[in-house]
Amino acid sequence: MILAIESSCDDTSVALVDMTGALFFHRSLSQNDLHAPFGGVVPELASRTHSERLPFLVEQAFSETGLSLDQISAAALTVGPGLSGGLLAAISFLKGLCWARGIPMVPVHHIRAHLRVALDPLLPVPLESLGLVVSGGHTHLYRIRDWPDLDLLGRTTDDAAGEAFDKGAKALGLPYPGGPAIEKQASLWNGPLLKFVRGIHPQNPFDFSFSGLKTAFVGYIRQSGADSTKIPQLAASYQSAIVDHLIDRIGKALENFHPPALLVGGGVAANLHFRSRLELLCEEKGIPLYMAPRPLCGDNAVMVALTGLELFRSGRGVMSPYDEIRPRPRWDED
Ligand code: KG4
Ligand code: ZN
Repeated sequence: MILAIESSCDDTSVALVDMTGALFFHRSLSQNDLHAPFGGVVPELASRTHSERLPFLVEQAFSETGLSLDQISAAALTVGPGLSGGLLAAISFLKGLCWARGIPMVPVHHIRAHLRVALDPLLPVPLESLGLVVSGGHTHLYRIRDWPDLDLLGRTTDDAAGEAFDKGAKALGLPYPGGPAIEKQASLWNGPLLKFVRGIHPQNPFDFSFSGLKTAFVGYIRQSGADSTKIPQLAASYQSAIVDHLIDRIGKALENFHPPALLVGGGVAANLHFRSRLELLCEEKGIPLYMAPRPLCGDNAVMVALTGLELFRSGRGVMSPYDEIRPRPRWDED
């Protein structure tokens, strides 16, 4: 069995999978309510909450499955990129647990985990694929020349796609996280869409930019108001504009590289409108599309478990002793 922890942002998540990737336990505790009054994630509060909740969640994993630490072959955990306090909370906790039992640890890269969970855990990642991670912190497009190495092709030059959803939702008076709230409002509208002036697209054809759209959207709301009767149309129009831009850039990358597959993960990949546009795009270009299952798009320990499993099975990245295991908040730039 592999025990896995994810704590890089504001979700505390624990999972147990076996050597075939079958899931035995998964539970995530969101901290949305705790951070909502501050309008964003407070790193110190997040790390303290991870420290409080991790022992309790791991205890539940064992008591509810009837499994024990003796059956754990390795413990996988996100070590970066992410908020250093949250990463450190899980590293310290897991080091203690593993040290006591001589269990090897497998450090996992958060972004690779978002992509890995798009594919069957026992299938190899097709080399030369493209990978897109769209979340609250990332809108990054990669070329996977030699998994698990990622070459960055393009990224957002300002806000991440999830951040654009969150800021748009705030302007509409909808709750955080904004993506699901906007998606829900948008599903109530099937009339004409409003167009917002989006500003200039970045020069690199594979980069993304959302801040111009957000400014236009917020400006429109200031001028015209957003009473409750207007919210569905505004939400649908804004969602469609974000997705149009993502699809435009991904389409250019697919045309340019003709990859053997496109892998997509991250919180925004749960958006049904985005998923159906991606399906259409990949069908049109004849490129196989692998999207993370909707419940596993956002941060979760299952993706960490499956990435850890792959590393463990191939004998790469397994560490015992654990001296090398440390938070890598900016792993890509280390
Ligand atoms: O991957 P994730 O859970 O955490 C980060 O690593 O950031 O992504 C969270 C982001 C938030 O910005 C949230 O608004 C967005 O993903 N999100 C969505 C949807 N569900 C979550 N955006 C659009 N549509 C959704 N259904
Ligand atoms: Zn994430």
